[in-house]
Amino acid sequence: GAPIDVDLTPITDGQIVNVFWRGKLIFVRKLTEKEVTDMKAIPEGQLSDPAPFGARVKKGHDQWLVVYGNCTHLGCVPIGHQGNFEGWACPCHGSQFDAVGRVRRGPAPINLPIPPYSFQTDAKIRIG
Ligand code: FES
Repeated sequence: GAPIDVDLTPITDGQIVNVFWRGKLIFVRKLTEKEVTDMKAIPEGQLSDPAPFGARVKKGHDQWLVVYGNCTHLGCVPIGHQGNFEGWACPCHGSQFDAVGRVRRGPAPINLPIPPYSFQTDAKIRIG
């Protein structure tokens, strides 16, 4: 599939936008300043699939998260702004993800994966 561009301009703090690339659901989320601060403060030792904050966002773009939108357990679509970790809760078997898509409660085995993307400008990303 061809790359797609996503205009970030209309996305407000805390908002999660669904886009599709190669037939896959992708969440583009603008983190609030509080979410950024909270996510940076979580010790990696608390994570079942350890990943530092800096591995989940692009350098210089702390407020932007781009992840595949299917649960890493069996593929259901997690619901945003639900659960105990400022992220997502999966309606199928109760997995929870934090605001940067790291799994915080199973049965999901791994974090929501990050698709290939880059910033074209501060206000536009290209996925693919
Ligand atoms: Fe999400 Fe099973 S598919 S917890």
